[in-house]
Amino acid sequence: MLKKIVTKDLLVGMFVADVGRTWLNHPWKKKSRLLTDQAEIQELLDFGIEEVYIDTEKSKVLPTVAKKPFVPIPTRAPVKSRQISQAPPAAAAPERVSAVEAELPKAAKAYTKALDTSKALIAACYMNKRIEVSEVRENVDELVESVSRNQDALTALIKLKRFDDYTYTHCLNVSVLSISTGKALGLSQDDLRILGMGTMFHDLGKTRIPSFILNKPGKLTDEEFVVMKNHAALSAVIIEEQKLDVDDRVIEVAKFHHERLDGSGYPDHLEGDAIPKLATICGLSDVYDALTSDRVYHKGRLPHDALKFIYSLRGTHFEPYWVDRFVQSVGIYPPGSIVELNSGDIAVVMEVDHSSLLTPIVKLVADNKGRLNPKPKLVNLNDEKESAGLSIQRVIPPSEAGFDPSYYFNLKDIAK
Ligand SMILES: [Fe+2]
Ligand SMILES: [Fe+2]
Repeated sequence: MLKKIVTKDLLVGMFVADVGRTWLNHPWKKKSRLLTDQAEIQELLDFGIEEVYIDTEKSKVLPTVAKKPFVPIPTRAPVKSRQISQAPPAAAAPERVSAVEAELPKAAKAYTKALDTSKALIAACYMNKRIEVSEVRENVDELVESVSRNQDALTALIKLKRFDDYTYTHCLNVSVLSISTGKALGLSQDDLRILGMGTMFHDLGKTRIPSFILNKPGKLTDEEFVVMKNHAALSAVIIEEQKLDVDDRVIEVAKFHHERLDGSGYPDHLEGDAIPKLATICGLSDVYDALTSDRVYHKGRLPHDALKFIYSLRGTHFEPYWVDRFVQSVGIYPPGSIVELNSGDIAVVMEVDHSSLLTPIVKLVADNKGRLNPKPKLVNLNDEKESAGLSIQRVIPPSEAGFDPSYYFNLKDIAK
């Protein structure tokens, strides 16, 4: 959320989103930045800028809690990128916590609760029992609230932790990804709740598909695929049969999540604008979760690889605009990604800047000789001063990295 603030009330740790001037008419090369030094505030004052907008979600310090003094994190002296292998300085100031980390405990609570509900939903469908829609609504509200506080914590959580089998986590994960994307698209809280509900229900129809088809490890035959394709319409049938008290758009999300832009989808071969937008968001999240999840018969792809595949469907299966927005929302290097920097250092992505996907906030966890840093420090790659020429060179698969990135998010207390 953007908040107007008098420049002289700015504090180190606030994220300035806009200074209300053109590019040429303010002191910084970039219009937005996280304040790490009192001198930056002075620069604005010297330029005669009396008011600015801060982004409260990206700020480490907010006006209401600003009474306690914020100790700025010392920035590393600029060094040539190849030289930073010498162990980074130990943090002298209190540890800086990323916004994702701060939201994670609450996000995990909402997720584990919703996972129980998701399992109960599937069980109710198998046993032809009544679905408790009020519970689903309550859980979805909590997911929406978490995403509203921080767009990336829940998506980071599903990347970092494997909570259960794909069968149980898939609908919930698609819900999380969809709500997060919807939030990035600026959907209203009401639309986010409808999207959250629809996605929680989107594959319930699979409970009516014979298990030898549903769980077949290999490729389905044409006949089997015809049967499998019924699941989307069956999800809508289940909601209607149970006369659940939900918005019609919840049913649309479930029914049309496999419809595709060029009419190649199912069940109604809808084309272009005829496909409800919320169903498109569900469809994109559905493909992404399926591609990135480990299954019995294949290893999940890395996020950037899955996005590359989704990008190849741009203009055929999905409207280019929606693909672009989805990529922007998920992030090329989502939190939890392990990356190698141009210096050879190994880092874990902690936070995504959705307006600058290639330069997230990372934690430097090991040097270019593979020595783990005892006190890894946060570096904003989008901040010229802080990053000192560092940039992401490549993504390292977790299996190759030899460590669990969730360690750096303090997820120890969160049950698997
Ligand atoms: Fe599906
Ligand atoms: Fe699905």
